[in-house]
Amino acid sequence: MAQADIGVIGLGVMGANLALNIADNGYTVAVYNRTAARTEAFAAEAGRLADRVVASATLEDFVASLKSPRSVIIMVKAGDAVDEQVSALNALMEDGDIIIDAGNANFRDTMRRFEQRAQTAPGLIGMGVSGGAEGARHGPSIMVGGAQDDWRRIEPVVTAIAAKYKGEPCAAWLGENGAGHFVKTIHNGIEYADMQMIAEVYGVMRDHLNMDAPSIASVFSVWASGPLDSYLIDITAEVLKTHDASAGVAIVDVIVDAAGQKGTGRWSVIESQMMGVPATSIEAAVAARSLSAMREERKAAQDRFGLPPMVERREGNAIISDLENALLAGKIAAYAQGFAVMAAASKEFGWGLPLATIARIWRAGCIIRSRFLDEIATAFTENPEAPNLAMTPEFAAMLEKTDAPLRRIVSEAVLNGLPVPALASAVGYFDTYRRARGTANLIQAQRDFFGAHGFARSDMEGEQHGPWGE
Ligand code: 6PG
Repeated sequence: MAQADIGVIGLGVMGANLALNIADNGYTVAVYNRTAARTEAFAAEAGRLADRVVASATLEDFVASLKSPRSVIIMVKAGDAVDEQVSALNALMEDGDIIIDAGNANFRDTMRRFEQRAQTAPGLIGMGVSGGAEGARHGPSIMVGGAQDDWRRIEPVVTAIAAKYKGEPCAAWLGENGAGHFVKTIHNGIEYADMQMIAEVYGVMRDHLNMDAPSIASVFSVWASGPLDSYLIDITAEVLKTHDASAGVAIVDVIVDAAGQKGTGRWSVIESQMMGVPATSIEAAVAARSLSAMREERKAAQDRFGLPPMVERREGNAIISDLENALLAGKIAAYAQGFAVMAAASKEFGWGLPLATIARIWRAGCIIRSRFLDEIATAFTENPEAPNLAMTPEFAAMLEKTDAPLRRIVSEAVLNGLPVPALASAVGYFDTYRRARGTANLIQAQRDFFGAHGFARSDMEGEQHGPWGE
């Protein structure tokens, strides 16, 4: 009997938690997983929510259990598995129904799926969901792309399950087709940069100031109630103070220093490069993860070169305070870049991405949630045409305060051989961005010299060539 309000396909950690969240909000949820045992286990573990869960062993029964017009959320591994599910559902669902891909899809796949969609097929929504398992269960941040009419239909349930920031749901329709998945990708790119910069600052405290994990945890705990107040700073403090009973040390000290990555950070960089909008801090963070994975090579290089000697070390509160401000400055660079990439993509794909709204729906629920995002939301609301976050009055003032500490930290780290590629990229980005007369005149001359590519002159009109070799 058709009784469920919405369905969820894929009962991995994210799908299962999202289904429970839906049920918790008073909706009846149909569930289906390719492995039937997983579906049964889910239904058995649903506890007090069990009577709002309709579990099916086949896709046909699952679709039949949904009230018409039907809405189905797919939460499976991005890529082929999504195409398989969409085509299986297309055969069972009809015009007026909606398929919602809630995985971390590459937005180009989402765009392709929209293009390939037949006129009379179910509608499609590409929905970015952030917040990990906990967010999926109790309120994630949700970024929606697709037809606005389709959004209107799913809006009540999506806003009900989303995180709330001061009562405002952290879910919004951001534009047509791939807009939601694109914004989720950039969210993750920024997440990479945020995490990398935190790790760099941790590295300075660990390897330069010789602080142990619990002491570093205390510093992060203090920062957690200042301008860096954010989920990532909170969990960093939590992680650093977690003791491992078997090893007798902080668990972080026995975790292998090779970071995984599933692709969203890399996609952010690829898209930023394709549009010619630099996201150097995100790029540095992605590269740092790749370098971290080359453990054997790094070990051989240390054996060959050793570590640089310490040449300078400041002690005490001065450096800790500089580290906090450097992190804030680095964060401004990463977010300015991420938002600039979104602004460019918005034009290129005709989405009309609402930057202030994006900042607003990232204030709670998602991995990068922070006080800082509330400030970004205000800055873009007050300055919707700002070419770069750094040029809004609030952030320009913040940069003026944090610029010198960032420089001091990056200089000290470089002098002492401590890797801070993402923080250093922030210095390079700002210094290049704010210098009206750069050095590309020389590059233009070189290009003209070897390839007659031409250049513009400040004292003449039109394309010019140099008198090379005359
Ligand atoms: C989120 C996270 C989530 C996931 C990433 C991690 O917003 O909830 O970003 O999407 O944790 O897949 O990506 P990596 O495995 O690439 O670090």
